[in-house]
Amino acid sequence: MQRYVSLAVPLSLLSGANALVRPDGVGRLPALGWNTWNAFGCDIDASKILTAAEETINLGLKDAGYEYINIDDCWSVKSGRDPTTKRIIPDSAKFPDGISGVASKIHDLGLKVGIYSSAGTETCAGYPASLGYEKIDAESFAEWGIDYLKYDNCGVPTNWTDTYTHCVPDNTNGSKFPNGTCPDISNPAPTEYDWSSSKTAQRYEAMRDALLSVNRTILYSLCDWGQADVNQWGNATGNSWRTTGDITPDWSRIIEIANENSFLMNYADFWGYPDPDMLEVGNGNLTLEENRAHFALWAAMKSPLIIGTPLDSIKEEHLAILKNKPLLSFHQDPVVGRPAYPYKWGYNPDWTFDPAHPAEYWSGPSSTLGGTLVLMFNSEDSAKSRTAVWAEIPELRDSAEKGSGYRVTDIWTGEDLGCVKDQYRVELQSHDIAALVVGESC
Ligand code: GAL
Repeated sequence: MQRYVSLAVPLSLLSGANALVRPDGVGRLPALGWNTWNAFGCDIDASKILTAAEETINLGLKDAGYEYINIDDCWSVKSGRDPTTKRIIPDSAKFPDGISGVASKIHDLGLKVGIYSSAGTETCAGYPASLGYEKIDAESFAEWGIDYLKYDNCGVPTNWTDTYTHCVPDNTNGSKFPNGTCPDISNPAPTEYDWSSSKTAQRYEAMRDALLSVNRTILYSLCDWGQADVNQWGNATGNSWRTTGDITPDWSRIIEIANENSFLMNYADFWGYPDPDMLEVGNGNLTLEENRAHFALWAAMKSPLIIGTPLDSIKEEHLAILKNKPLLSFHQDPVVGRPAYPYKWGYNPDWTFDPAHPAEYWSGPSSTLGGTLVLMFNSEDSAKSRTAVWAEIPELRDSAEKGSGYRVTDIWTGEDLGCVKDQYRVELQSHDIAALVVGESC
């Protein structure tokens, strides 16, 4: 039985009683890959996807760990399913050799391939989706050689509407409640309500069960935008679960999502990860500082890192961010499942929910870095200094109190900053982030 943790799995590998444990470690660590949506929207075809796969290799991204090449919305014939087999039909103009043709070429490159559907009757762009056809679609995906399914939340018929509404601050019934409350919700759930019994959870469980019944291991990535309190049931249902509405390549949106996701870090561990949406590194008019703060926060939160920019035109400086070795090694830690946590908010008092100023000071243990990951972030619109005080950092506190210094390395430059006593202060440009490994005491 693959679905739930069995006694054969060492206890140290468990994140919780209900993790979705799959063969060969699939979904144990947060996914690394590329996806069509942020790069191309609906304007996709086999050649763009194969270009991305080839560039993943040419640019050294595969060697850095990126493995999934994922097809998002708009891959099928829009008018409907095959009348006889009831299968979704790949669009032959976009995919002359079908999805299986693309999949086998991607597999030949040593990479894996992902696809997209929705837990409704239509995808968000209006293509046939899988509600009521979970088994048939899971079988098609398995037959085509699919390794990853992103499962969206559009096209939900009224008889599948939840009894209650759950508050997602940036995205409740299309409205934003930036202060983290949902004052206008007319039908909130009673406090004891178990959202794992909601219709939304059932829609996602139906596809989980279909995927578990086919003869192929397919990573399951839920995309219900944080609705139906997915943090209660996401880890038992999929390997990652979206926590917010859609990202766009705008600083204010990226940081709003980071703030929201930062409050869910207790739910992230082996086999199950909150997903603050795919990367916008390389897109829009983000500054270099904003690109690297986005990436460092996503890596520290152990979010799936799914690149969303056209790889054949990516700038060297953006590629360097995506290939940052220490951050990827923290993210892919085989021994420590938990992400970094905020240890201090900085700009705001601790635990403040602020879409423009998320927690600025983060730390997390690592089995691979030879020390603790420490991030210091400047969420303000002008250059500021930030100081990491060793005695404030949970991983360092005990020995810091005895007056130890630590060997510090700058993660962006690789520079050895020597033996640093008590604290480390940096000047940061607006929206920049310092990333350090705080290593051996000295
Ligand atoms: C949204 C989803 C996006 C993208 C889009 C495709 O609901 O959050 O990531 O998949 O649909 O139409």
